[in-house]
Amino acid sequence: MPNVTITVKDDEPFLIKGDISIVDAEGKEIETDASAIALCRCGASSTQPFCNGTHKKIGFESKVRAS
Ligand code: FES
Repeated sequence: MPNVTITVKDDEPFLIKGDISIVDAEGKEIETDASAIALCRCGASSTQPFCNGTHKKIGFESKVRAS
């Protein structure tokens, strides 16, 4: 079983920790050697798929709760 944690915080990017690989829509792996990354979920980052902090400037809001 993979040891990966995805954390969803209010108004923040997805925080992913663990042994991960990121693959784009064409099947190409996106290079990262980090063991923890933040993936954009506001759609405004200029460094997609990674968060670059723009969500704070645009006032991105999202509150996700498990149901
Ligand atoms: S979530 Fe941070 S730039 Fe989109």
